[in-house]
Amino acid sequence: MKNKVSIIGAGMTGSTTAHWLAEREIADLVLVDVVEGMPQGKALDLQQALPVIGKDVTIVGTNDYEATAGSDVVVITAGLPRKPGMSRDDLLIANAAIVRKATEETIRRSPDAIYVVLTNPLDVMAYLTMKLSKLSPERVIGQAGILDSARMRAFVAMELGVSVENIQCYVLGGHGDEMVPLTRHSNVAGTPLREILSPERLEAIVNRTRKGGGEIISLLKTGSAYYAPAVAVTQMVDAILKDKHLIVPASAYMQGEYGLKDMYFGVPVQIGSKGIEKIIEYKLDAAEDAALRKSADAVWQTTEALLSLVNI
Ligand code: APR
Repeated sequence: MKNKVSIIGAGMTGSTTAHWLAEREIADLVLVDVVEGMPQGKALDLQQALPVIGKDVTIVGTNDYEATAGSDVVVITAGLPRKPGMSRDDLLIANAAIVRKATEETIRRSPDAIYVVLTNPLDVMAYLTMKLSKLSPERVIGQAGILDSARMRAFVAMELGVSVENIQCYVLGGHGDEMVPLTRHSNVAGTPLREILSPERLEAIVNRTRKGGGEIISLLKTGSAYYAPAVAVTQMVDAILKDKHLIVPASAYMQGEYGLKDMYFGVPVQIGSKGIEKIIEYKLDAAEDAALRKSADAVWQTTEALLSLVNI
């Protein structure tokens, strides 16, 4: 029997995730959205692309959660972007309501699913999903670290003219402007970045990585990035379905790791069929530790805002 992945939110990120996943032929897919006809249309279009690339999976688009029953993985990427005049708190309340509905509707139909959450603000939406689903924390993972690290890898590759395959970068922390690109751990075919790039160039790459999402928003004018976020989710789903024990940065529930408790935060995790198998604690130097604390403070403030605005 094929695996089943349900994607809640068939917008740019959701439908692009379906595209990447269909290419890997690892699961039947269900796309759910509130817009009538849109998920059905996208699913049909994608289904009709598969004969050309020779992939046999079924893609269903729907406005109804019934089709999600028995999913192995649920991806939540439904949400609203921030509109003019909307405060961060307004967005928090609106997206929390959307994520609540997505979680409640899916968990009763797929009690054994692993959740991958993308809706922003990412770390607190993953927290909300974990609390509402009552799943154990290792079954709810937030997508951010693969994306942020991939952005840094792309910038390093562009700078050095080296294959992206040779470049490993690790970006930890919350998915926001305070994220922490770890330059000491990042390397090009084993040589630390700090030995290859001047401090100025490295700092420029770190800053561009931190603002990577914003750079794309300002270029697109409407909407935000979706190719890279979607392929990052695809890698996580692949690791879950294939039980790969893959180590990547992702947003995980902190229970004392890195000195943090009761919040989701971007750290290196090992992902397999049960979700997060292990949280890896890097030894950080004083500067890295300080940067991580600053990022954690920012995520903690949004988590507190969530708790004060929304009944969990
Ligand atoms: N249930 C299902 N789908 C919903 C709901 C809901 N209650 N509310 C909104 N949606 C759908 C919208 O109809 C839209 O199709 O969520 C989709 C969001 O898609 P886009 O607006 O294209 O946004 P996208 O770029 O895909 O980003 C979605 O992921 O990366 C994050 O910051 C991003 O929070 C945002 C989310």
